Amino acid sequence: MRKPKKLTAIPGPKSKAIVEMESTNLAPGLQGFALMAGVAMDTGKGSWVTDVDGNEYIDFIGGIGVNGLGHSHPRYVKALQDQVAKLSVGSFTTDARAKLVKKVAEHTPGEGTAKIDQLQLYSGGSEAVESAMRLAKCYTGKWEFLSFWGGFHGKTLGTMALLGDGQKQKYGPFAPGNYSLPAYPDCYRCPLNLKKESCGFACVELFRKSAKTQTTGAIAAVIVEPCQGTAGNIVPPEGWLKAVKEVTKELGALLICDEMITGFGRTGSFFVSNDFGVVPDIITIGKSFGGGFPVSGVLTTKEIAKSEPWSKPSGSSSSYGGNPLAATAALTTIEVIESEKLCENSRVMGERLLNHFKRFQEKFPFVGEVRGKGLFLGIELVKDRTTKEPLAEKRMKQMYNDGVQRGFLAMSYKPTMRFQPALNIDAESIDSGAAILDELFTEMAERKDWK
Ligand SMILES: Cc1ncc(COP(=O)(O)O)c(C=O)c1O
Repeated sequence: MRKPKKLTAIPGPKSKAIVEMESTNLAPGLQGFALMAGVAMDTGKGSWVTDVDGNEYIDFIGGIGVNGLGHSHPRYVKALQDQVAKLSVGSFTTDARAKLVKKVAEHTPGEGTAKIDQLQLYSGGSEAVESAMRLAKCYTGKWEFLSFWGGFHGKTLGTMALLGDGQKQKYGPFAPGNYSLPAYPDCYRCPLNLKKESCGFACVELFRKSAKTQTTGAIAAVIVEPCQGTAGNIVPPEGWLKAVKEVTKELGALLICDEMITGFGRTGSFFVSNDFGVVPDIITIGKSFGGGFPVSGVLTTKEIAKSEPWSKPSGSSSSYGGNPLAATAALTTIEVIESEKLCENSRVMGERLLNHFKRFQEKFPFVGEVRGKGLFLGIELVKDRTTKEPLAEKRMKQMYNDGVQRGFLAMSYKPTMRFQPALNIDAESIDSGAAILDELFTEMAERKDWK
């Protein structure tokens, strides 16, 4: 089995020098796992990255779901090199953009007038969600928004108002009319303290009642991550999203499915909402969609897309949206997902990794829950399986750092661990990463320092 090569102490001397140089002028606030590792990366191939001192790592973070094709996929590299040499800027029609919008529409859900076949392009996830919100206002003539606890839709002011966690502290006040509800089925930690087997989707009823009692009846849209990423790669029970869609219809609102993380192969298909039997009104996409290039988008039906002023000239555009480089990156990504059958690989490799996790659950008392769909996986570490008290953050940070020392990169620094490796990861790399995680868990069990 391939093991990560370790040539120096981590971080090595070259990493230390570069990180020190950068830290003088890079503003604070970068992702914690990058700061904690303190290494400077140099090259990447598939699911493996190498730092500037030559130390190797298996990458189970995958740019938090961005790195769909793995690092430096040869077809992606060639396509971008060719495009940048030809034309890189501007919003005039290009062959790449024309092919891209057609290609995306081949994979989107819906039929007839409900077919989601209109795409507008942006460069970041939050920007796409903001645009989806503007579009929902234009179409419905309403202005309120509902979201769910645990949901994450970005860090701009509009999207932050919909955040379902503590990260919005100190950023208020937000625009009025935004409600985040304790109604997402994180069944391991049910916000209503109920059991999945017997709750009868009480959270959907709470969602319905909250919408009717808390709002002014001017709900433009309900926004949901069909599977919640930031909250811990959570997969809802079958039937939940369908029930949400029904309530949304009752409310006369649009359903925005934020498929930034779940889209384009991550959960084993192009759109997870479709797997749940739901055709949303609007879908927001990003991350894996561009294979690493910052490109995102808003997808909707013809009828919704023509709402004004969103649809007027310059009404939904942006400086970089769908420029020749972005369009080439996204088009090539989808072509590779198709030709290399990466949705299928995501399902097969995801199951392989989940089987390793199930083994851990039998072996280690602190593994409370394992879950996932495709290459979108999570583990909950708890001090006690009955109380479900999470492991201390400090212990988890140590686990992350111990992993880095062994050449293992995963979002293992919180008791809700998340894994989203590249969609083309192979069995050997899955097994190598799982073997290191097994070592880390074994060490923690032996040291008995997790209680
Ligand atoms: C579901 C979801 N929506 C929106 C965003 C925001 O994307 P960006 O960071 O590109 O603005 C994220 C980012 O993690 C996300 O996971």
